[in-house]
Amino acid sequence: MSARLTAVTPLGTIAIRGGTVVDSAGSRRADVVVGDGRVTAVGPDTDGGPAAHRTLDASGCIVAPGLVDLHVHLRQPGREDAETIDTGARGAALGGFTAVVAMPNTDPPMDCAAVVREVQELGATACCDVYPSAAITVGRRGSELAPMAELARLGVRVFTDDGDGVQDAQVMRRALEYAGGLDHLAGGGRVVLAQHCEVAELSAGGHMHEGAWSSRLGLGGQPSEAEELMVMRDIALARLTGSRVHFQHLSTAGSVAMVRAAKEAGLPVTAEATPHHFTLTDASCAGYDTVFKVHPPLRTDDDVVAIRAGLADGTIDAIATDHAPHTSTDKERPFDSAPPGMLGLETALGLALTELDLPVEQVLALMSWQPAALVSIDDSHGGPIVPGAPANLCVIDPQATWTVSGAAMASPSRNTPYEGRTLRGRVRHTLLAGEPVVIDGEPQR
Ligand code: DOR
Repeated sequence: MSARLTAVTPLGTIAIRGGTVVDSAGSRRADVVVGDGRVTAVGPDTDGGPAAHRTLDASGCIVAPGLVDLHVHLRQPGREDAETIDTGARGAALGGFTAVVAMPNTDPPMDCAAVVREVQELGATACCDVYPSAAITVGRRGSELAPMAELARLGVRVFTDDGDGVQDAQVMRRALEYAGGLDHLAGGGRVVLAQHCEVAELSAGGHMHEGAWSSRLGLGGQPSEAEELMVMRDIALARLTGSRVHFQHLSTAGSVAMVRAAKEAGLPVTAEATPHHFTLTDASCAGYDTVFKVHPPLRTDDDVVAIRAGLADGTIDAIATDHAPHTSTDKERPFDSAPPGMLGLETALGLALTELDLPVEQVLALMSWQPAALVSIDDSHGGPIVPGAPANLCVIDPQATWTVSGAAMASPSRNTPYEGRTLRGRVRHTLLAGEPVVIDGEPQR
């Protein structure tokens, strides 16, 4: 999965002045100069060289590697009324992301070379690097393996049936065994199988977390165990096959505990969690507002505490948004028939900085270099900001406060559950291959 190394439009030299560079190597006061798609100089009071064409103000800001989102739904092909690769990538850039992994539950699904190529081509001119994942099984139907080797050769590094879990343990075992033999196609990286953990029989008929609130509201519930049984099974399959399993959008305290124990036992597992699962609970569904309907569902206070603890102690490797745009028409349906999902790209960083009691370095590790390494794109994204590195960067004002507005977002969809909420921490500029795609919070194309 190679990223672009040159900007879509030709650029001169750009100097990012007055900020504090924060990357995996630590934190230091430094200006950053970029040119020809790469970082050319880093240091205190770098003058940008005689040919500096432009200066971006970073005073009071953090200059960081661009953020990396392992989990977005860009809806193209198939539901361009809800999102396109173009609008989704613009929202990503506004949120500080320079790379996203696009989920395969498009229509048609990303389970074959033609659709993966289409997404790659559409992504080539987008405001961030778009890495298509591909389905584990044909049609995401859970029975026959997709042509994983062919897709890995095209650059796919993440396979998932996201939207659904692979229900059949034997199919998942075979997929893990097969994926384990594909790393040689990954150009020094590796192929990752990512699982949406949900046992369909247990979650069937459920529209929110099963608990006191679902009883009170008279809505069918999805028990925590629907997720936890598959986490348990796939930890066992990781042990059996020796292949890596990445757990998507963990939502329960029990899941976090099992992943923690699996990691302590040295098993090859990784995990992500979403901002909504560390900021919202099932109580949000009290007004039957479908903007709070999501899979896996919003859980309890105890689960939120456990997700936060998992992020803090390294059990969870990455914050991923599960950005899931849906049109207003679709979301206006009754709670039990509206589609699940929430916008996430433009609010993720602000939520992490506002709500998590973590140092900014740790938030950036969870949102940039750890996810980049997890899917082997760390040669292009998330790496230390040093001369020669690809200039995929974001400049964050950690003190800026702002109010969330769905109407102001890049997506044609409006389904943010954070409407009207004030967040602290905002992206000021985003650079993709040296091109400023966001300046002063405004998209440039
Ligand atoms: O809430 C969700 N929405 N969860 C999923 O797994 C799929 C996603 C979507 O595609 O809308």
